[in-house]
Amino acid sequence: MATINKPLKPKPLSKLRSPILTLILCISAIALLYLFFSLNSTDGFSFSSPKSTRNSVDKPKRQHTIHEKYLYWGNRIDCPGKHCDSCEGLGHQESSLRCALEEAMFLNRTFVMPSRMCINPIHNKKGILHHSDNSNSEERWAESSCSMDSLYDMDLISETVPVILDNSKDWYRVLSTSMKLGARGVAHVEGISRVDLKENSHYSNLLLINRTASPLSWFMECKDRNNRSAIALPYSFLPTMAADRLRDAADKIMALLGDYDSIHVRRGDKIKTRNDRFGVSRTLHPHLDRDTRPEFIFHRIEKWVPPGRTLFIASNEKTPGFFSTLAVRYKLAYSSNYSMILDPVIENNYELFMIERLILMGAKTFIRTFKEDDTDLSLTDDPKKNTKSWQLPVYTMDEVEQGS
Ligand SMILES: *[C@@H]1O[C@H](CO)[C@@H](O)[C@H](O)[C@H]1NC(C)=O
Ligand SMILES: *[C@@H]1O[C@H](CO)[C@@H](O)[C@H](O)[C@H]1NC(C)=O
Ligand SMILES: *[C@@H]1O[C@H](CO)[C@@H](O)[C@H](O)[C@H]1NC(C)=O
Ligand SMILES: *[C@@H]1O[C@H](CO)[C@@H](O)[C@H](O)[C@H]1NC(C)=O
Repeated sequence: MATINKPLKPKPLSKLRSPILTLILCISAIALLYLFFSLNSTDGFSFSSPKSTRNSVDKPKRQHTIHEKYLYWGNRIDCPGKHCDSCEGLGHQESSLRCALEEAMFLNRTFVMPSRMCINPIHNKKGILHHSDNSNSEERWAESSCSMDSLYDMDLISETVPVILDNSKDWYRVLSTSMKLGARGVAHVEGISRVDLKENSHYSNLLLINRTASPLSWFMECKDRNNRSAIALPYSFLPTMAADRLRDAADKIMALLGDYDSIHVRRGDKIKTRNDRFGVSRTLHPHLDRDTRPEFIFHRIEKWVPPGRTLFIASNEKTPGFFSTLAVRYKLAYSSNYSMILDPVIENNYELFMIERLILMGAKTFIRTFKEDDTDLSLTDDPKKNTKSWQLPVYTMDEVEQGS
């Protein structure tokens, strides 16, 4: 649930002009402290620091020991690979990063994270945040990459799988040590299974394994796992590892939303069609365009979201007011309602999406566009993964009536 964990900031002392007021405040502060100690002597001063783990300034930096061993997959997600010039969206790159992190867990090695993440320009339009005023909807953030630690909290990730960044002192130390050790320090491997890397002592004793991942995409290394219980990190792992300031912004917005439900409406990229050789347009998700229109959303979510609820909508739909007819039943809210909070924090669309995801996940009822697993609520029954079967788009209501 939405909670604000940070204590209120004390007013700067310069604002307290009156010395008498200062004196009174001091006395009451001492009295309060005394009261608190007597009530809660075991906790001491802990009430003055946030309860959650998010304030990394207060935490001791993670110490890396010389006994640790390291796994390196390269300095860019999915590169070497087909996306070296451009790159994919955040979700796609996260699948790849998650795959690499799982291997590090499997090998009991510290993962060397790329220090930057590539940003795909088509996923970096500013319009999504400002779709209400429409004037700058084609404006983009200029950056083509961002630092990994502006997106993720490395210390938080390290609690599950230890990581260092490839621009850190730790990494330079590992590199120089591995060079001194020569063949006993590092192996550059390609096409060797993770089981071999773990069990063959030729690899398992090395300080550093430099692994060349699949040239298609990093996540292809995890494709052969049919055994679901072998998946060590859930899909939600990286989304919940968001950097402090992103989690703070999400918490503030969630506190303002109060008790709310949420829908993630993927249109944009996912509803694209292409013409077959007869000039008939076809799509990979035949019901998606229909199911993500307000009149169909209305029908679909009725059984999950009672009238009068606050509904947070995250979408890549660019048409202003596209969802506004839903307002007859729900109180609608978008990121754009909270630009006062977001504008000072957000530097690119990946950051915005990270915050939106936290808000989506924090809702009482969260409805995705596609089902990720069996228990998910979704706007459409079309499978998310379909790369082959191009079908005719369906716009009629009939199937909905039958299906519900
Ligand atoms: C994992 O590595 C750490 C040192 O980094 C070691 O202390 C620990 O025993 C290892 N665990 C396993 C299960 O091998
Ligand atoms: C890792 O291996 C690749 C391919 O062999 C090589 O190009 C790269 O320089 C190596 N990187 C490190 C840090 O050893
Ligand atoms: C699935 O993976 C788990 C954990 O790695 C393992 O214990 C189990 O034996 C595997 N099941 C099958 C059918 O391979
Ligand atoms: C968000 O903004 C829209 C359009 O400006 C407005 O209709 C709606 O009431 C706002 N929602 C909230 C929760 O403030």
